[in-house]
Amino acid sequence: METQVAPTPRAVWYQTYGCQMNELDAELVLGDMARRGWSRVEQMDEADIVLVNTCSIREHAEDKVWSLLGRARQLKRERPDLKVAVMGCMAQRVKDAIVDRAPHVDLVLGTTTFRNAVQDLDDLFAGGGTVVRTTLRPDPLFLPDQDRNVTVRPDRFRAYVNIVRGCNHACSYCIVPFTRGREVSRTVEDVLGEVQALVDDGVREVTFLGQNINTYGCDLGSPLLPELLAQASTIDGLDRLRFLTSNPFDMSEDMMARFGEIPKVMPWLHIPAQSGSDDVLRRMKRTYTVDQYREVVGWARRHIPGVEITSDFIVGFSGESDAEFEATCNLVREIGFLQSYVFKYSLRPRTHAARQLPDDVPEPVKRQRNVELLRVQDETAKQRNAALKGRRLEILVEGISKTDPTRVTGRDRSNRLVHCDGTADLAGLMAVVEITEINAHSLIGRRVAHEDVAGAWSLRPAVGA
Ligand code: SAH
Ligand code: F3S
Repeated sequence: METQVAPTPRAVWYQTYGCQMNELDAELVLGDMARRGWSRVEQMDEADIVLVNTCSIREHAEDKVWSLLGRARQLKRERPDLKVAVMGCMAQRVKDAIVDRAPHVDLVLGTTTFRNAVQDLDDLFAGGGTVVRTTLRPDPLFLPDQDRNVTVRPDRFRAYVNIVRGCNHACSYCIVPFTRGREVSRTVEDVLGEVQALVDDGVREVTFLGQNINTYGCDLGSPLLPELLAQASTIDGLDRLRFLTSNPFDMSEDMMARFGEIPKVMPWLHIPAQSGSDDVLRRMKRTYTVDQYREVVGWARRHIPGVEITSDFIVGFSGESDAEFEATCNLVREIGFLQSYVFKYSLRPRTHAARQLPDDVPEPVKRQRNVELLRVQDETAKQRNAALKGRRLEILVEGISKTDPTRVTGRDRSNRLVHCDGTADLAGLMAVVEITEINAHSLIGRRVAHEDVAGAWSLRPAVGA
């Protein structure tokens, strides 16, 4: 009789920084680890493996990783058998610095080579030395999105699915093209297989991810995002589709019209504007003007009923004057964004801006502009939402509210955060909420109806009425 050696169970503590794609990449690795019988722990000092998924977008994001690696070093002094793994953009960007400054790190995995993590860790536990694997072109054996363990997810009813990695733009401030390389799209078939598996496991809402999602498919021959959405929307049991991030340069009116024709595509677009000044946009090499941005928003509003737009802005970019900053504030008011992320410019080594443009806006001015733009955005959101008082919105309930145990939380079709009365058994169900209170970042309301678990409504009120 053959003897079977049971795999050693290992405890994994992990932390992920940065964008949604990073969250998903960590999930992919944790899924692989779960297959191997390894489980997550909440405390770093209970772990056999410390996994850090890193971000390079701003200096601050990298600082946080260095300090976390310091904590891991302490722990490893007490427990020399601890393995420390670093993946993500910073691993890709500064692998040599990590090996130099943090010699206690055992495994450094780049942005396209992280799916071999379990095998690499097994080798390390078997006595192997430090592994650094950061080639940017994916090894065909370990394409990042292949063979996903769909059962490991932070949210039972919603999931991210990556459809294109990398970015072919060269925005002058941005490190992403360096850390994630050129665009590589998955095939429609491959993506649909993953979506189907997620839906079979209970997912009702899928958000497709790409650094530059509107060019999805271009490296395979033609833009395929509308086609992918149309095909995904035929999957039974899938109710909502979203995608991000859209660069305005790669959007066309035709594409917008196609989004508008697919009922499961939610009326929400994340289209970062970055600035409301043509001169700043030129220095940022964003390749569009403010007027072109307005035109894109116009197409969205013409073709996607009820669409809401969210954005990103960078304040304090090289040479940004008071008047240029004012133009950004005005654009926020004019477009009426539902929400904006605002970032203080952070110079990233090797980028065009680092080489050619001085980081000359003083830190206190950056900070002040950040606060001011967020204030303008909050005011704008409140105004935009004011008309919703007394109206009904449909939400997909995620679960009990983090701040109030008598309420549940969900997102409406336009991705607004909505709280209403309810209990945990509503999680994963659609509910209709009559809005009673408007805040800048969330809405509060009274639940007027909800689905039962079989998807039936006792009374389905008209939404928006
Ligand atoms: N393609 C992605 C880019 C990810 S970076 C997207 O368009 O969302 C997310 C946001 O971070 C960017 O939109 C930008 O507003 C901000 N950002 C990128 N580089 C930055 C830098 N060097 N300093 C400050 N903010 C930056
Ligand atoms: Fe960065 Fe511009 Fe691409 S912000 S990710 S280079 S679209």
